[in-house]
Amino acid sequence: MEPKPLKYKSLDGISERQLSEHHDVLYAGYVSKYNEIEQSLSDVDLKASNATYSELRELTIEKGFALNGVKLHEYYFDGLGGQGGEPSGPISELIVRDFGSIEAWNDQFKALGMSARGWVVLGYNYDLQKLQNYICDVHNQGGIWNTMTILVMDVYEHSYFIDYGVKRVDYIDKYMANIDWEEVNSRVRNNIPGYQDNTNEQKGE
Ligand SMILES: [Fe+2]
Repeated sequence: MEPKPLKYKSLDGISERQLSEHHDVLYAGYVSKYNEIEQSLSDVDLKASNATYSELRELTIEKGFALNGVKLHEYYFDGLGGQGGEPSGPISELIVRDFGSIEAWNDQFKALGMSARGWVVLGYNYDLQKLQNYICDVHNQGGIWNTMTILVMDVYEHSYFIDYGVKRVDYIDKYMANIDWEEVNSRVRNNIPGYQDNTNEQKGE
């Protein structure tokens, strides 16, 4: 696996240095550790598998940590670089349907940013067939199975400390102001039943 490049160098209110430390060092580090773990797993002794301690157990747990660290960061970075503000298109329809209003979703998502120790995730739960906000305190804890990731906000201190010190609430405002709603809408169109692009519709067959 290779790191995905950033689509931008800096954002309104999030500096180039903040982003490069976050992307080029921290995120890239998860990619290289994932590769290292996969390599180590290829010749692990399966007969020594043990639930208290074994190489297979430890490597597999850290593989989940590293891989979620990679994926969450990619959704985070790729979801920024836009103009923020009010969403439009299918994501707007879904948010209003499932949260009552854009404002109600926005208020909860931002408040969760002050509750989470790691991540806030807007996801589409395929079993419930609706959008929900979730939080994760570490990469491999708090994720909900059978849910499509739609929007991710990193609230670890490393994501804002260079620019904002301990003022997380100011960072959250800037995060919201830089959301790329076009990217979010493409995630909806590519993954949520009923919202595919018209060109791919097969109705009437
Ligand atoms: Fe991060």
